Amino acid sequence: MKMTENQMLVIFGASGDLTARKLVPALFNLFTAKQLPENFVVLGASRSNMSDDDFRKKVVLESNYLKEKFEDRSQKDIDDFAAKFFYEDLGEKYDGEYGDLKKRVVELNKVHKTGGNIMYYLSTPPTLYESIAKSLADAGLSTQNNGWKRLIVEKPFGYSLKTAQTLNKGIQQYFEEHQIYRIDHYLGKETVQNLLVTRFANSIFEPLWNRNYIHHVEITNAESVGVEKRGGYYDKSGALRDMFQNHLLQIVSLIVMEPPIGDSPEEIRNEKVKALKSLRIMKDHKTLYDNTIKGQYIASEIDGEKINGYREEDGVDPNSTTETYAAIKFFVDNWRWADVPFYVRTAKRMPTKVTEVVIHFKTPHHQIFKDSGINNKDNKLIIRIQPDEGILVKFGVKVPGQGFKVERANLDFYYSSLTENRVMDAYERLLLDAMQGDATLYARADEVEAAWEFVDPILEYWKKGKDVRMYGYAAGVWGPENADDLIEGVGMWRNPGENLADDPGFCVLC
Ligand code: BG6
Repeated sequence: MKMTENQMLVIFGASGDLTARKLVPALFNLFTAKQLPENFVVLGASRSNMSDDDFRKKVVLESNYLKEKFEDRSQKDIDDFAAKFFYEDLGEKYDGEYGDLKKRVVELNKVHKTGGNIMYYLSTPPTLYESIAKSLADAGLSTQNNGWKRLIVEKPFGYSLKTAQTLNKGIQQYFEEHQIYRIDHYLGKETVQNLLVTRFANSIFEPLWNRNYIHHVEITNAESVGVEKRGGYYDKSGALRDMFQNHLLQIVSLIVMEPPIGDSPEEIRNEKVKALKSLRIMKDHKTLYDNTIKGQYIASEIDGEKINGYREEDGVDPNSTTETYAAIKFFVDNWRWADVPFYVRTAKRMPTKVTEVVIHFKTPHHQIFKDSGINNKDNKLIIRIQPDEGILVKFGVKVPGQGFKVERANLDFYYSSLTENRVMDAYERLLLDAMQGDATLYARADEVEAAWEFVDPILEYWKKGKDVRMYGYAAGVWGPENADDLIEGVGMWRNPGENLADDPGFCVLC
């Protein structure tokens, strides 16, 4: 197990939802798993007027997000955990002078012996990232002569290529790239990391992982919820910025990348950048028209309950043209993937919550069992990111009896079968990695920019293109009707169910 040095975690935007919902529960898991360093404190910083006790109550003792976790813990454990939390009111603004914050940091460091190591977590709007970095640097809180300093930033990282570049440059004036950790919580998911292991720790998949054997790749990210309480944010963002530019392109990069020479963060990230740079950027209107679909959910009724359309959601412009559904077809211009189409879609208000990758293999080049009906039943490798995490291979088996009738059967692996291993929550894993200085699962500046470079022309076209259409889909269905057109000639999207093996595959029951 790697060493986690004594340290302090300073959370900017600590009174916001993310701290209570994700960060503190992740810290509590690390605490109960005894993975926090011996000397560790959390200093929340934001513009709310709170005492240490108020903060402890809000994010720990009275937090709804911890209730269940507390059920089987002793009061002493809970109190010990809460005692690690402190709070500093930043006053009116985040970009002021950090004299008081510094005093608090110095004092906590001295009393709790955190070794001068500090991890800053920016859970604020991205517009504040650069000014917070500057204020920290001005106060001498970014220098590494007395313990290391790291900066974790949340998404969205930029709004376009240009804004991402500006943001990168802005922050890099005060923190060096190796100190900056851009979080993408999808990279913290076990199953996303397992993409690397499936590919590079086995000899049975990688030889087939190319244009000679793969017909097309399909990725679905579906959520059954709508925009919930985030209409204001989402309406300015949309599905492409919210999910595709970051989470889904990260998954794409892991599927597309070449084998790295080793497992160091730089080697893995170098290959991911190369993968992202090899995505064919769509430039002309015809290509963009033919290969992108944008949709928005409209009101419907699910199980007798009336569901609002997107334009009726709080914080959303009633004439909004922001997409809640995005489906993109694209190609990867490199030796391995030439001419293999990738189909990626993401949406809110789908029938279920599911994220999966489907690798569709080509049918055998010479058909022996012509009447077997196997033609339409290609081999598939399904990598289920969530829920029912696992891997499923669909392959043909002979139906018992005369002749050679072929049916499709399932070969599966479920993460839940690994009963001895606790699957870490994404934030828990990522926080621990950053605490240990491991940036493998964090996005580097050039990765983020390469992803924006691919996404920018689509956004631009969707905003200004004359022939762009926004398709409505009733909340609770698999997107607009014409979404299958994108995948024409290949079949249809695999509309996955909640369970990985949505069809039982072929089996003979005695
Ligand atoms: C976030 C998006 O990054 O990811 C949300 O902003 C989305 O809109 C969420 O709901 C999905 O994450 P998960 O882990 O639930 O798939």
